[in-house]
Amino acid sequence: MTDARAINDLRTRFQADLAQSSTSRELQTVRDRYLGRKGGVIATLMKEVASAPANERPALGRLANELKRDIDLAIRERRTETGVGGQATSTVDVSLPGRGAVIGSRHPLTALREQIETIFARMGFTALEGPEIEDEYHNFEALNMPRDHPARDMQDTLYLAESLEPSAAPGPHNQPRTLLRTHTSGMQIRYMEEHEPPIRIIAPGPVYRRDNLDVTHTPMFHQIEGLLVGEGVTMADLKGTLEAFLRELFDPDTKVLFRPSFFPYTEPSAEVFIGCLFCDGAGCNVCKKTGWLEILGSGMVHAAVFEAVGYDPERYTGWAFGLGIERVAMLKYRVDDIRLFYENDLRFLEQFPA
Ligand code: DAH
Repeated sequence: MTDARAINDLRTRFQADLAQSSTSRELQTVRDRYLGRKGGVIATLMKEVASAPANERPALGRLANELKRDIDLAIRERRTETGVGGQATSTVDVSLPGRGAVIGSRHPLTALREQIETIFARMGFTALEGPEIEDEYHNFEALNMPRDHPARDMQDTLYLAESLEPSAAPGPHNQPRTLLRTHTSGMQIRYMEEHEPPIRIIAPGPVYRRDNLDVTHTPMFHQIEGLLVGEGVTMADLKGTLEAFLRELFDPDTKVLFRPSFFPYTEPSAEVFIGCLFCDGAGCNVCKKTGWLEILGSGMVHAAVFEAVGYDPERYTGWAFGLGIERVAMLKYRVDDIRLFYENDLRFLEQFPA
């Protein structure tokens, strides 16, 4: 038979026993005496509670459980205090090899951007970054795309809400609007406004467009802009530099094709293709049976762009290009869904050179 007083007596006895124990072994002995499964003080108490009259059982059960919990806690605390730790019943196998640290790596888009920066750095180009929130002037107007220029439709623009009023209303368009830059080309303007030729820069960074997510589109992606300006710069310089770049980026034997195109800020303009990496020019699904893959847009800087930044177009000439980093990564690594770059699935990310 047991009652509340008997349980209280056990508590007092335990406290006295604990007070006399400090070594790991002593503490373990106290623990076994009270909490041991067979014949331990608490185990015996629990049996007595079980055979107590039904009306006393819940209250006694609660007291017994509290005592059990307090004993367990008190012994743990004592071990920590005395520094004997919780190792009394477990051992450390010092012969086991240690756990290796998991080493992270750069994101494939970052690694590719750095590779491209390195190639251009060797040719004397400095890399710099600019604002992602841009104004209409730098993103469009100074690049020879006045408002209502049809070429603006090539890039679905995300405007910032606070800049939409009142100029969003029909009527004279004279209020400057802010937007998320649709391309890195505005960096040409920003740099030329602050510097005189000769210029050799590249400008990598995120750009934004009102596109829905699918296998080739994300509303945010990355571009690298290039700009070279000086006296006597010709289209042959553009061709030679971009060819050297593409052969280093892909393969020394890469075939490079320049095809006439149109951009408002270059004249003449060229789209640059490389021989298809997957069928070697024979024609496959990736190159849509053409044997060529489009890699970048480029051209000779338009005189109107030079005029916008106060350069004399009779004195200076230059060329520019822009490429999409995700597009290059997809071709180089044969990734067929752009969204994979943003899902952060380690099984995907671990496959790339760091
Ligand atoms: N801005 C163009 C785009 O986003 C790419 C481009 C084309 C940049 C021709 C240039 C260029 O500098 O000369 O598609």
